Amino acid sequence: MKNIIKAAKRTLIKNRRSKYTLPTNTKLYPAQWNWDSAFIALGYSNFNLNYSIKEIETLLSGQWNDGMIPHILFHKKNLNYTPNYKAWNCGEKISSSGITQPPILACVLRLIVERQKFSKKKIKRYYTHILKIKKYLEWFIRYRDPKKTGLISILHPWESGYDNSPLWDKSMSKIKIENNLSYKRKDNKIVNASQRPLAIDYDRYVTIKNHFKKMKYDPKKLYYKSKFNVIDVGFNSLFLKALKDLDFLLENIDKKSLSIKKYIHLNEKKLVKLFDSKKMTFKNKDLKNNFLTEIPSITNFFMLFSDLKNKSVNKSLIKGLKKYCKNEKYLFSSVSSKHKSFEEKRYWRGPVWINCNWIIYQGLKNKDKKFAEIIRKKTINLVEKKRFWEYYSCKSGLGMGTKNFSWSAALYLDFILNRS
Ligand code: DGY
Repeated sequence: MKNIIKAAKRTLIKNRRSKYTLPTNTKLYPAQWNWDSAFIALGYSNFNLNYSIKEIETLLSGQWNDGMIPHILFHKKNLNYTPNYKAWNCGEKISSSGITQPPILACVLRLIVERQKFSKKKIKRYYTHILKIKKYLEWFIRYRDPKKTGLISILHPWESGYDNSPLWDKSMSKIKIENNLSYKRKDNKIVNASQRPLAIDYDRYVTIKNHFKKMKYDPKKLYYKSKFNVIDVGFNSLFLKALKDLDFLLENIDKKSLSIKKYIHLNEKKLVKLFDSKKMTFKNKDLKNNFLTEIPSITNFFMLFSDLKNKSVNKSLIKGLKKYCKNEKYLFSSVSSKHKSFEEKRYWRGPVWINCNWIIYQGLKNKDKKFAEIIRKKTINLVEKKRFWEYYSCKSGLGMGTKNFSWSAALYLDFILNRS
């Protein structure tokens, strides 16, 4: 176990560039990714607080003037990724993508501050960081819920982080591929193509991106004109938790915000309605095409992470989660293996992801200690057996995608060195 802790630290250090950390050093992801970086910062906080804070600061330095923090920051201008910085052609101080990702950053900063038992005076040292996070979360409210319904939209599957999840299949099937679309993938030359999204997925991803580029990434236009506009249970759960953590941080720098508190209340009320505790199903809303979908995805259970005040909903969620993983050897499959869309090896269509396990563990630790502990131990065992892969088979534990994956190493460290 000690050797593996060392190996996890080594993996992160090897993937680290001067101010930020790559998701892997295998060329698959040659830039800084938003939610990867947040998980990585948490991993560092277990052994090097300076690296942890630096990771967060570098991510914040890519913030756009309107408040958005992009999903990719291209610190090095190379063409080794598709779509690369030229294909996006945006970013302000730093070249970036023109979309965002789950704002895990807020949750990680709160955890760091609490675990390190920072005094109020010390928290105030992070005053500007906290205000930047506030601006980021307000950007979601302003531009991703302009009608103030209480629920946030994502406008591209890449924004969820779970890119090719079956959650998006029906919405994506409506997208007409751009005429004369031209781009060259690199990912499926580096990783076995059977473990990556399909060609049709990429055609649609790039079509949506090119449409955004034509609109100069104007967030006001994007919401109404995007070819993809979905309210996702998992994303809204992560957002709600981020808001609650921001609220905690703001209280500590004496900057509490009534409008954030109000949105927390509204978001929670609306989020709960997407869960049917009798049928144990979750509803995603496609706002573009006006339909509901029900896909058994582990990301639906991120609702546990948002620490809902409703005890009976939390109880049903736990019951549903136990049923969801009943027959799985390795937890948690990203999509239920009983569902027709399940694919054992294809990226977000079935494999186990360590960040999902961590999110669920965090959601359970104050609600069902015994179950949380089982998840912690099973995750640790899987990583110790197979090492730091991007994802794993829920049937055999086989490591897949890329090796040396930063967040698997970072969250392994967090699981093993921390119980809070
Ligand atoms: C990828 O390249 O697969 C990333 O998930 C997109 O953000």
